[in-house]
Amino acid sequence: MAAPTTFHFFFFFIFLVATTTAKVPANRTFKYVNEGEFGPYITEYDASYRAMPLFGSPFQLAWYNTTPGKFYVGLRMGTTRSESLFRWVWDANRGKPVGEKAMLIFSEDGNLILKEKNGKVVWSTGTANKGVVGIKLLPVGNIVLYDKKGVFVWQSFDHPTDTLMVRQSLTKNGPTKLVSRASPKDNSDGIYSFVLGSNGMNLFVSPVQGMVTVGALPPPPLLYSDDRFTVTQTPSNITFTNEPGFSFNDVPEFYELQLTPDTGGNFIVAQVKYNATLSILRLEISGNLVAYTYYDPVATDAWERTFTYFSDDDGVLPGCALPSKCGDLGVCQESMCVACPTEKGLVGWNATCVPPAPCTIGSGVEYYKVVGVEQFIPKFNVGVRMSLKKCAKKCSGECDCVGFFYWTESSRCWSAPVLGSLTSVSNSSHVAYIKK
Ligand SMILES: *[C@@H]1O[C@H](CO)[C@@H](O)[C@H](O)[C@H]1NC(C)=O
Ligand SMILES: *[C@@H]1O[C@H](CO)[C@@H](O)[C@H](O)[C@H]1NC(C)=O
Ligand SMILES: *[C@@H]1O[C@H](CO)[C@@H](O)[C@H](O)[C@H]1NC(C)=O
Ligand SMILES: *[C@@H]1O[C@H](CO)[C@@H](O)[C@H](O)[C@H]1NC(C)=O
Ligand SMILES: *[C@@H]1O[C@H](CO)[C@@H](O)[C@H](O)[C@H]1NC(C)=O
Repeated sequence: MAAPTTFHFFFFFIFLVATTTAKVPANRTFKYVNEGEFGPYITEYDASYRAMPLFGSPFQLAWYNTTPGKFYVGLRMGTTRSESLFRWVWDANRGKPVGEKAMLIFSEDGNLILKEKNGKVVWSTGTANKGVVGIKLLPVGNIVLYDKKGVFVWQSFDHPTDTLMVRQSLTKNGPTKLVSRASPKDNSDGIYSFVLGSNGMNLFVSPVQGMVTVGALPPPPLLYSDDRFTVTQTPSNITFTNEPGFSFNDVPEFYELQLTPDTGGNFIVAQVKYNATLSILRLEISGNLVAYTYYDPVATDAWERTFTYFSDDDGVLPGCALPSKCGDLGVCQESMCVACPTEKGLVGWNATCVPPAPCTIGSGVEYYKVVGVEQFIPKFNVGVRMSLKKCAKKCSGECDCVGFFYWTESSRCWSAPVLGSLTSVSNSSHVAYIKK
């Protein structure tokens, strides 16, 4: 019995030596401290920033903040040469800001750690003693920790926030989605997501995050996109790509931004007249899905918006179909918020137009009607056949129901945890009922 034990121990020992000897050379380790002057350029969200040395043009790692004393380690895209807006395309510590004098440390054990000044660990890649020998910021916008064979032990591409870079993928086993940023000031998770599911890519809104009543399940996310990016064959992954179009004298006539499922086929996102490698696909704070392409040979504004999901000009769906178009509530026509539904009828719209306070429940709840409107809930989500009376009763019993939609011609009912933009239509059998 002794021999095999020794034998195993011997191999275990070899294994230990092999992994512990793969270390980051001292001259590749670093400790960046969040201190000093702020940079001079204009960046997204009006953020202040301090650039760090990790760089792969046009990407650079930086500390940035939109609120004093609340910093994020983010990836900035853009070059100083073009003097265009710098965009924040990735955050390490999303929703978990750090303070002044926080430290980003890449140590000999191969771990990349973000610590507060007092030593509290806020974020890390979790790659200690996993054979990491170096770190690089690839010029595609990917931060990689690699082993001695050059294999990526960790990459920021596997941890997207609200933005996909060209060549970045969403996969069935994760990461499965982009999640919008909460607001310009707050980079924690917002309520919108762009998710890889069994039928491809869909947009969802999770309406009442943070206001769920005790014991109640949050309402399921609601679909607000059509079938533009859906397929019949379940993909394992989808990659954002830039493909040259047909060539004339070896020069491509155009480039095509695509979402490419591994199961074949592709979705055209945009056609661009120049090399669109430096493009991003972004799920914006508003819930709109857009592509921006960066082309820095141009003198002034290097960013071009090359795709917009919700837009009257060239969108997949009209501007009014964006749930947040009119804030919390409003009647929308041709991308304009034209009216605010109230108990007394329609009045002029402004940002003070809001639905009733949440959790108005009980048998005494009353509703007012908005006749001839549509919205994403009845358009893209399955309704239940029932009588108008039952539909109202259902909503009256639900804390997170602020109103409901009822289509008389098919007797279908949808409870609405969110109202947002209502599109006016000529069909008077499509009615919204809003709690008084
Ligand atoms: C880092 O140190 C190694 C030897 O450990 C040396 O070969 C390499 O050139 C050094 N790199 C830099 C950038 O100084
Ligand atoms: C996508 O899936 C295919 C097939 O399963 C696989 O070969 C490929 O490596 C995957 N790509 C990514 C980026 O995950
Ligand atoms: C497009 O630009 C990228 C990055 O600059 C480059 O690697 C690629 O070769 C270019 N593609 C073509 C077809 O010129
Ligand atoms: C907003 O609209 C309402 C209803 O039309 C009106 O009473 C209110 O004065 C408006 N508020 C502002 C700030 O314009
Ligand atoms: C309203 O739309 C439904 C289909 O959604 C249709 O069956 C019905 O005839 C329409 N009514 C009018 C008045 O256009």
